Amino acid sequence: MGKDKLRKFAENLTFECFVQPAFEEMFRTDHPLKGNWRKEFFHNDNPIVLELGCGKGEYTVALAERNPDKNFIGVDIKGARIWRGAKTATERKMSNVGFLRARIEFITSLFAEGEVDEIWITFPDPQLRTKRAKKRLTAPIFLEYYAKLLRKDGWINLKTDSQHLFAYTSAVIEKFGLKCEVANNDIYGSGYADEVLSVKTAYEQMYLERGLPITYTRFQLGERKEFPMFDWEGDDILEKDGEIERKTESGTDARSKSRGCLHTMPCKKEEKPAKQD
Ligand SMILES: C[S@@+](CC[C@H](N)C(=O)[O-])C[C@H]1O[C@@H](n2cnc3c(N)ncnc32)[C@H](O)[C@@H]1O
Repeated sequence: MGKDKLRKFAENLTFECFVQPAFEEMFRTDHPLKGNWRKEFFHNDNPIVLELGCGKGEYTVALAERNPDKNFIGVDIKGARIWRGAKTATERKMSNVGFLRARIEFITSLFAEGEVDEIWITFPDPQLRTKRAKKRLTAPIFLEYYAKLLRKDGWINLKTDSQHLFAYTSAVIEKFGLKCEVANNDIYGSGYADEVLSVKTAYEQMYLERGLPITYTRFQLGERKEFPMFDWEGDDILEKDGEIERKTESGTDARSKSRGCLHTMPCKKEEKPAKQD
């Protein structure tokens, strides 16, 4: 591992806004902060907003600056990325920001029922392969996790460049009859992006430079707690057309070749599960 990463990991531990639970504090057990984030961490009663897969935490920091009456927590497994957000929040003396280095799969060990008011999911790995569909951050299994901690009227906001993930999320929303306020497949092209939606993450910047439209979905889970996994026909079409293979050929623009394809993803390799670095 590079010296720079090790330096960032060490510096993370010096930031007051940084929390790195030990595995034993999350695995099949409740972390001490579960149910206590407001009282013990933020020392206020304000609403809590999560950014899942926050990377460098651009949304966490930008939303926190605009909303001093709310608390924001960026969650990511990659210590060197999260360092950027934690460092910025520390330098700017922001008291309404936290960064949590943890796997999203452990989120129910970290937050209590109704403790979270809103969720942002910013440019998650689209997990194009059907066999990895359950890894998508809007897959039913993840919605079950979110339902355990999000207020029933709490919004989930998804920003993605992936038209496939956008379509998949719309299918999930329809399947479970969820309330959807926005499903916009090109927020800049349509003029929909306001000041908040125009905040650009590192990944978003990269996709914009490739000329890709950015999508935004905003929905609620309501009272529903159970979300059984289901097969989505969009995945069959994607695999049958061999579209994934075309997308993983470097530099090939799948859009020009696709036939009845549901998406206009960039030709990047599908990301492997996030490693802990
Ligand atoms: C494509 S990056 C996007 C980062 C950032 N939101 C952005 O837009 O620049 C996806 C991020 O999700 C994180 N991630 C993926 N799976 C995760 C998981 N299961 N638990 C925690 N973080 C995860 C990765 O470490 C990575 O930083």
